[in-house]
Amino acid sequence: MDNNNHKQRIFSGVQPTGNLHLGNYLGAVKNFVKFQSAGNETLYCIVDLHAITVWQNPLELKKSIRELAATFIACGLDSEKSILFNQSQVSSHSELAWVFNCVTRMGWLNRMTQFKDKAGKNRENASVGLFVYPSLMAADILAYHATHVPVGDDQKQHLELTRDIAIKFNNDFNVPNFFPCPEPIIEKNSPRIMSLRDGTKKMSKSETSDMSRINLTDNSDQIALKIRKAKTDQDPIPDAISGLETRPEAKNLINIYSSLEECKIQEVLDMFCGKPFSFFKPKLTELIINELKPISNQITKLLNHQDHIDKVLYNGSLQAKKISKPIIDKTYKILGLKNS
Ligand code: AMP
Ligand code: TRP
Repeated sequence: MDNNNHKQRIFSGVQPTGNLHLGNYLGAVKNFVKFQSAGNETLYCIVDLHAITVWQNPLELKKSIRELAATFIACGLDSEKSILFNQSQVSSHSELAWVFNCVTRMGWLNRMTQFKDKAGKNRENASVGLFVYPSLMAADILAYHATHVPVGDDQKQHLELTRDIAIKFNNDFNVPNFFPCPEPIIEKNSPRIMSLRDGTKKMSKSETSDMSRINLTDNSDQIALKIRKAKTDQDPIPDAISGLETRPEAKNLINIYSSLEECKIQEVLDMFCGKPFSFFKPKLTELIINELKPISNQITKLLNHQDHIDKVLYNGSLQAKKISKPIIDKTYKILGLKNS
């Protein structure tokens, strides 16, 4: 079997930490679904080893892995079309991460802004795992010789590092093109969804107020309440995009509408210009509920069939091993760690 033919292979990962929200859905998972129907080979990984770079409650983590798997499936990822699995069950990730820890330079990792953000002021107390997080991410991608990686723009720096690691390995061991240089796919049209309480901050799992985000598992009443309470201003909806520039909260709600309807912002403005937000919000609520209700119902159903979820992940891990094992073997051979 030739696993080294560098055809278009798409890989992405999401951490199993807390419920996914509308931002994750519109900014990431909805795109994952699109790639799988375009005839690509797609692998989507629940990156549980990345999650433990900060302390996790083991019972919660177990639950979150299943919830994320259920969410992936409910959003339309299909185990017949994509390989869905969790990272810890395929040892290739940790094996290659160690090799990459020996290729990556301290100076490269020192520049990673996500580490600086996550470690905060008390860097001495951050785990070593958090520091080498990007080399595990490079291993996730390169263990499959993946060529394309859909991510949000916050992950661009990690993708550049992945390319640097691939290039250095290929040079250091004189194996040109052994590891491909993966391309990030950062969808220009996938919007950054902002907090419902502060239009200048990203909608985020880690924000303390639950009112700041729409979770994929929220019921219709919760969605209606959150949109009703979402911060806006007194002015009516403008007729041109320039009229939204100094109104981040208004812009965010319009953005969400256009993203769900898959239409241009201008088209939303044409529909609603001159109307107050009290008119717009119920329409937006209806749109969100229509999109998310089938997803949340499906998540609930799937979580009642945990053995089904476990089976999908197990089968996914077997398929993932089949692709990555020969690549790890070849890597070990290149390094002089294995004979044949
Ligand atoms: P995270 O929740 O940070 O692990 O991100 C998982 C994926 O969702 C990544 O590809 C992010 O870029 C994307 N994402 C997270 N938050 C948002 C947001 N508020 N708007 C759009 N995309 C997001
Ligand atoms: N670091 C990514 C994030 O925080 C998650 C991730 C881990 C990932 N490994 C990956 C994304 C491999 C794409 C490819 O969102």
